[in-house]
Amino acid sequence: MTKDFLKVLLAENEISARVEQLAAEISKDYTDKEIIAVCILKGATLFYSDLIRRLNIPVKLDFMAISSYGYGTESTGEIRIKKDMENDICNAHVLIVEDIIDTGCTLSNLIEMLKQRRPASIKTVCLLDKPERRKASIKPDYCGFVIEDNFVVGYGLDYAEKYRNLPYIAILEPKIYEKTM
Ligand code: PRP
Repeated sequence: MTKDFLKVLLAENEISARVEQLAAEISKDYTDKEIIAVCILKGATLFYSDLIRRLNIPVKLDFMAISSYGYGTESTGEIRIKKDMENDICNAHVLIVEDIIDTGCTLSNLIEMLKQRRPASIKTVCLLDKPERRKASIKPDYCGFVIEDNFVVGYGLDYAEKYRNLPYIAILEPKIYEKTM
């Protein structure tokens, strides 16, 4: 499978060390508060499970599925909720957990939608930020790594549903996705 990648961008131990730091920062900022941590399926699942187990504050778990990319490499700019969260977030502290912010359309639309449910606060944590491709003006409250505009897979991120289970993040060989574009 390594022939599918140009190189490993972030090794397992680098990701783990950064997740540890993010968890410490988040735990400190939310001292004496309970949060609802919302995992945005499916890309954020590995990051989410590693992050929440390192938080030392009370955490309620919740999950949302939103469509944006499909099988291509470009975001549509619109979002559709495929699966909504189960908790009532009115007066709650909400932390949205994302794997990557690319155009920013998913997150900015989602935040506007969730604000209407009147949470006490709403913050975002993303593992990867690709600011070069931004269309919506949005900055995550917590960010693992700022990366260049490469197609990355692994640690939850996919190409056509493949590679999500890799414990590291790699840059996909362009030939892989150029074949289908
Ligand atoms: C990815 C990622 C974000 C979104 C970011 O999800 O998890 O939700 O795209 O892109 P944007 O900033 O350009 O809106 P995707 O729709 O690929 O679904 P997945 O998490 O199931 O892979």
